[in-house]
Amino acid sequence: MNIKSAIFIKGVVGTDDIFEDGIPQIVLIGRSNVGKSSIINSLVNQKNLARTSSSPGRTQQINIFLINRAFYLVDLPGYGFAKMPEEVRHKIQKMIDWYLFNSGYNFKKVILIIDAKVGPTQDDMVMFYSLQNANKNIIIVANKIDKIKKSEYDEKLQKIKNAFNIYKIIPYSAEKKTGARELIAELLK
Ligand code: GTP
Ligand code: MG
Repeated sequence: MNIKSAIFIKGVVGTDDIFEDGIPQIVLIGRSNVGKSSIINSLVNQKNLARTSSSPGRTQQINIFLINRAFYLVDLPGYGFAKMPEEVRHKIQKMIDWYLFNSGYNFKKVILIIDAKVGPTQDDMVMFYSLQNANKNIIIVANKIDKIKKSEYDEKLQKIKNAFNIYKIIPYSAEKKTGARELIAELLK
């Protein structure tokens, strides 16, 4: 199956009726600048559906996209961006924690995105264990594989596999659209 339609519905910063409408939600989470918004664009084959930026902290609200009129892709702000003003960072962290752990929304899957070149950070591992403890259905995507030298690819991927040992890792490049078919198949499962 393909992605046939993708519509931006709205951006929210907290409790919203849209999350109670019975349509399944699939959420993307990861460090700021890891490529969450770019991955959404690569999945739906549109350049600017989700706004992206080379400087971290682009997404500062919860952006909701309706895909195939069947499920929502939920683009969360990123965590772990040290240079953001403390106040903004705190607000964003609260929003992420609220949506993932306190809202009571029963999302179908969560895509945890790791930077393939940087490897799993401490923040990534904290997020992973929190999601695991909350019994979430996790998919791990290692994005930006186009930035890894061929000679380092196996080693980098193995490091990520070791960190998340029981989980399937999808090597991905939003830039080159590598892995999109595999990820779409996982989402539609
Ligand atoms: P926040 O909204 O700040 O949390 O960031 P984000 O995770 O949504 O990242 P975004 O999609 O805005 O991408 C950040 C930067 O990384 C942009 O300059 C993208 O062009 C770049 N980028 C994203 N994916 C890839 C990729 O697969 N390869 C390469 N080379 N660059 C990428
Ligand atoms: Mg973003």
